[in-house]
Amino acid sequence: MLQRLVSLLLLALMASIAMSSPVGTGSASSSSAVSSSVASCGDKLVFCHFMIGIVGNRKSADEYDADMRRAKESGIDAFALNIGTDPYTDEQLGFAYWSAARNDMKVFLSFDFNWWSPSNPSAIGAKIAQFAGLEAQLKVDNKPFVSSFAGDGIDRQSIVSAAGRDIFFAPNFHPGQGDFSSVQGALNWMAWPSNGFNKAPTPGQNVTVAAGDEAYIHALAGKPYIAPVSPWFSTHYGSEVSYSKNWVFPSDLLWYERWQEILQLGPRFVEIVTWNDYGESHYVGPLSSPHGDDGNSKWAMDMPHNGWLDMAKPYIAAYKAGSTSPGAFVQEDQLVYWYRPTKRDVNCDATDTTMGGANNASGNFFMGRPNGWESMKDEVFVVSLLKTAAEVHVQSGDQSRTFQAPAGINAHSVPMGVGKQKFAITRNGNTVLSGTSLKEISDSCICGIYNFNAYVGTLPAPATVDRLLPDGLAMLAKGLKVACPANTLGAALATVTHT
Ligand SMILES: *[C@@H]1O[C@H](CO)[C@@H](O)[C@H](O)[C@H]1NC(C)=O
Ligand SMILES: *[C@@H]1O[C@H](CO)[C@@H](O)[C@H](O)[C@H]1NC(C)=O
Repeated sequence: MLQRLVSLLLLALMASIAMSSPVGTGSASSSSAVSSSVASCGDKLVFCHFMIGIVGNRKSADEYDADMRRAKESGIDAFALNIGTDPYTDEQLGFAYWSAARNDMKVFLSFDFNWWSPSNPSAIGAKIAQFAGLEAQLKVDNKPFVSSFAGDGIDRQSIVSAAGRDIFFAPNFHPGQGDFSSVQGALNWMAWPSNGFNKAPTPGQNVTVAAGDEAYIHALAGKPYIAPVSPWFSTHYGSEVSYSKNWVFPSDLLWYERWQEILQLGPRFVEIVTWNDYGESHYVGPLSSPHGDDGNSKWAMDMPHNGWLDMAKPYIAAYKAGSTSPGAFVQEDQLVYWYRPTKRDVNCDATDTTMGGANNASGNFFMGRPNGWESMKDEVFVVSLLKTAAEVHVQSGDQSRTFQAPAGINAHSVPMGVGKQKFAITRNGNTVLSGTSLKEISDSCICGIYNFNAYVGTLPAPATVDRLLPDGLAMLAKGLKVACPANTLGAALATVTHT
């Protein structure tokens, strides 16, 4: 009980919150929205947070189609379109709503209160009025669904008045801060264990994701809860943004453990955080999803995460079926594995000077090894998705392990070894799947920086290598002190393929 009170208190005190994409802001232009109706949605729904602020370079609805299809195939029902007040926001929303409509997906607005203001609810209502009538708008209880990032203190009734229609309002209010009596539901953003102050937990200050669930469920008093699930958190911005942004949250097997928790909890809604926030390394969408570069390419390049979305599929299916055993939803034998590209104590101080230098404590630009680095283990994480029991073999550099893996979904880990990463599944002495990862674990700093993002691979391996497009690499070299060739992952493989 005391622990719970402390957790609630820490949550309430969460003064600074995980910042979203550090994009610029500008004034919104207007666009007209064609109205049409849509049937209300049913019971359990899975959302995925989608950053509009990183896709301002998209030229048409076509550029959203692959995202819509891939999300839908995975069981995601709707994208939460995170919007700031950039000049391109309305055009991009138009593209997204149109692409969603023709791909049988749903979308809704998620106002990012880094840019919107709780003291200006009429601007929010006006934006809702522009888009809520479109075909792809998610409706719950026959009302347009509206969410947010932060926003405690905004007055729902003023939004509704300005929108000229009722809404299903499920913002990211915080227990103890927002008025939960005025909302229809709420999103908890904190999908990572923390110290309650937006940094990694310490033994004395440790707010688990489950403690966040408890605090929200208590504050919501029976209203629908949007439970967060996220695979990772690592960010390494320096002077690109006007605040210090160089930390990790403990991630390791979080994606596996949190999905297990979600199945036990069975909330009305789940939100995957995120589809495309490359800057915070919690994207589950492809690197090739068209987007710009706000500096994230330094740690996102050559780090595909698609295997995490593959892994979510049986969990999403189990969640929707109200089942706590995802194993029954495994369609085929598969391995999903992930690891950081270097061990945590590799020293990059001499070359990671993009942000003014590791020893530069002036202002907020002290960089160096990200805050919270001790909370990440030097291990290779492997999740086996099996139709029937099998042996899982992992060789990480000079470290090798074999696991007796039961049918269903199970997690394993192996100490990191520098060099090649090899994986196999055998059954009764026969090799079912085997392969070598395209990414080696290195004993030197890749591109000269501390990169605590994860490389995610699968067996069977994907047919093509997922790579950043040119726009997504625009800032790669900026500030780097060592050579950093673009898109080297699987380059040899690509050469072979083309000869
Ligand atoms: C925080 O609590 C969780 C759950 O009890 C535990 O697994 C984790 O190791 C703790 N973290 C720290 C830094 O004490
Ligand atoms: C420290 O970093 C700041 C911000 O990037 C920069 O303006 C300043 O020149 C740096 N100082 C040194 C000694 O490198």
